[in-house]
Amino acid sequence: MFVQSAQLARVKPSATLAADAKARELKAQGKDVISLAAGEPDFDTPDNIKEAAIRAIRDGKTKYTNVDGIPELKEAICGKFKRENGLSYAPAQINVSPGGKAVIYNAMVASLNPGDEVVIPTPYWVSYPDMVRLAGGEPRFVATRAETGFKMQAADLEAAITPRTKWLILNSPSNPSGAAYSRAELRGLADVLVRHPQVWVLTDDMYEHLVFGDFEFATIAQVEPALYERTLTMNGVSKAYAMTGWRIGYAGGPEPLIKAMAKVMSQTTSNPSSISQWASVEALNGPQSFIKPNAKLFEERRDLVVSMLNQAKGLHCPTPAGAFYVYPSVEGLIGKTAPSGKAIGCDEDFANELLDSESVAVVFGAAFGLSPFFRISYATSNASLEDACGRIQRFCGQVR
Ligand SMILES: Cc1ncc(COP(=O)(O)O)c(C=O)c1O
Repeated sequence: MFVQSAQLARVKPSATLAADAKARELKAQGKDVISLAAGEPDFDTPDNIKEAAIRAIRDGKTKYTNVDGIPELKEAICGKFKRENGLSYAPAQINVSPGGKAVIYNAMVASLNPGDEVVIPTPYWVSYPDMVRLAGGEPRFVATRAETGFKMQAADLEAAITPRTKWLILNSPSNPSGAAYSRAELRGLADVLVRHPQVWVLTDDMYEHLVFGDFEFATIAQVEPALYERTLTMNGVSKAYAMTGWRIGYAGGPEPLIKAMAKVMSQTTSNPSSISQWASVEALNGPQSFIKPNAKLFEERRDLVVSMLNQAKGLHCPTPAGAFYVYPSVEGLIGKTAPSGKAIGCDEDFANELLDSESVAVVFGAAFGLSPFFRISYATSNASLEDACGRIQRFCGQVR
């Protein structure tokens, strides 16, 4: 009989992938399901990027590459960090991995010893705690509150740091809450971090380009240059360029960490796809003109979803500044009875009942470490969003 390792037994499967898989299964059975569970842009990879990949195939750029990225892509990433974030990295300070997820995992495996702690604000992106556990570390959670926009307060960070703290993982704009830290808010966190030189920062900037209104994105190594020597600035092409399937993520950081991450890759995945790397060179160096209109489109969808959810009985939906998620509270429905007659005892019950009654798939808040909430990904058409939010309103209206 197969028995999984003790290390893996500490880990849950990804709840977001599970929710989306369940929605796909119901769809395949012919049900009219709307999935708001998956976290990927609904538009296609731009043509210039596709063409660059086709060219790479035709030119025979189809062999193994440098383990942690081709020089051309590392140069393009250095250019991006300089141009968009005011951060100077040399190519030797750049890691390219098969997806942003792999960047984070490689960093954790490269640096954590048993018992090392990683501070993670909740609600968190589902994979952080389990990647930390897989790498032998211990997640230390810091709860945030809707009232403060789901942003970690400096005093709470201070209280969570111990002599065993190795990393803080910051994610702005956030998956799942959409919360985005202003420069002043990052300044407050940086002031704490400066006092604790053992703590490194992994900043997950995946949603950098999806910010709304007059919000200006900033990243922590830029806000506090003293942290540059212990910050891994992580990003990727998945969300900004609609390239989730291409599997390219990247990061800039201190050379010894980057070398250690390459060592992990050299004995595990080897290089990310050569073709995807060439496509990413084009993504970063080519025209960027579609990014802003795209963010505008997401902003309109955010406004639509926030407005419709706030009209649903028992829901409260804050207005986030970025990404393509909202994180409404279901507190007003806990302890009540769903249309099926079943009790709604927690946010997972809410999500299950909503799927059963109205065929709308969302992800419950406990999966992100903060209840009672749920996450909606609004990276889908306005028509689907209106339909889904209408169904949510109907469901909530029938809760007794
Ligand atoms: C916050 C955050 N970080 C990292 C990732 C991983 O991105 P990738 O698809 O490039 O692995 C995601 C994807 O959902 C994400 O939401």
